[in-house]
Amino acid sequence: MDSGSHGLILGIETSCDETAAAVVRRGREMLSNMVASQIAVHAPYGGVVPELASREHLRNVLPVVRAALAEAGVTWPELDAVAVTEGPGLAGALLVGISFAKALACALDKPLIAVNHLEGHIHAVLLEEARRRMATSRETGESLHPSREQSQSNGPILALVVSGGHTHLYLAREQNENTSSRAGNWTYRNIGRTVDDAAGEAFDKVAKLLGLGYPGGPWVDALAPHGNPDAVPFTFSQIKAKAHRRGDPDALDPMRETYFSFSGIKTAVLRYVHVYEMENSIEARRAALAALPDAKPEDALRLCDGRTLDLIASFQRSVIDDLRRKTFRAAEAFDAEQVIVSGGVAANRELRVRFTAEAAERHLSVAFPSIALATDNAAMIAAAAWPKFAAGAFADELLTAEPALTLGR
Ligand code: KG4
Ligand code: ZN
Repeated sequence: MDSGSHGLILGIETSCDETAAAVVRRGREMLSNMVASQIAVHAPYGGVVPELASREHLRNVLPVVRAALAEAGVTWPELDAVAVTEGPGLAGALLVGISFAKALACALDKPLIAVNHLEGHIHAVLLEEARRRMATSRETGESLHPSREQSQSNGPILALVVSGGHTHLYLAREQNENTSSRAGNWTYRNIGRTVDDAAGEAFDKVAKLLGLGYPGGPWVDALAPHGNPDAVPFTFSQIKAKAHRRGDPDALDPMRETYFSFSGIKTAVLRYVHVYEMENSIEARRAALAALPDAKPEDALRLCDGRTLDLIASFQRSVIDDLRRKTFRAAEAFDAEQVIVSGGVAANRELRVRFTAEAAERHLSVAFPSIALATDNAAMIAAAAWPKFAAGAFADELLTAEPALTLGR
């Protein structure tokens, strides 16, 4: 690392439907965080249209990057590196960010850093923790130490990344070999995943089939407190490790590997709708919301009867409880000393309340990103790039989009 550098990293994120750019100093000081959302473009289709997403990224990327630099008060030559999401995500969407970042890094003669989007979500929480610690050390007059080891012990972190595209559990560890740069080296082990839909996808599909807005998570979140979460008893089947069933001796102990499945609950909601003949009222709600110029969950609340609100509340409670039970069981199995939850679904209010209560009972710490950093953003990409910058782990010229990129073993 150049000793004269300020550690100013520009992050660029275009993996799905948000064009985002941010400037973060040394992985812990967020100087700007700009997001151009494409929700209005995709809403009429009830889901992200990949082709439209790529075009919107192309339209937005330069204005968003310029805005991020202006907000941060940083000029192009002052940047130390350009970081970009390599994957996972939509191929065409990723290519826009990567092409732009490559060209920019080349023009500025600065290093390019490739970041895994999933690692980014984990670093959204670590960034804000580092920021909080920095504020505390300023108040107490202690010197600043950006890596965790200075202020906490270095046990593993159990990270639940839960979004529209992902439901993963990772065991994250920081190895502080690189003490001179004070930026640890993070390693990840993937110890849980969904076998079908992601949790956010279930929120989106259920909201869609109940005639609510897009994306569905915030609508379900807003309406659920108005219903009875115990009204509809949904059950989750136990999913066994396939490899273990085949007798694979190298398979992980099934108690130590976690499987989620969210396609069944979506089908159960659909069945409930048929049994109680709710189709006509759903269509009426859909039409009424479509007729409003800027429909909000408050509008939907007036259009929902008690049975619908109970169904929404029960669906949310079931999904959150399944995430909570399995996450804390894994935290115990792996002796994690902290649980972090990140990704769009981490914005959910009931999730935060129930995870916080369970963590308190177990004397574990739990952390969530602020709402702005829960959903896709580029500050998390710039923050995750910092340890790579410090270690000189730069992307080569052949970098391309990796739509199916995984994180950890
Ligand atoms: O992380 P994100 O912005 O994009 C992906 O990487 O997928 O997550 C978007 C997902 C959507 O499925 C959305 O419905 C869900 O996060 N979401 C929520 C909430 N806010 C966003 N789900 C539940 N409750 C929320 N408050
Ligand atoms: Zn995401």
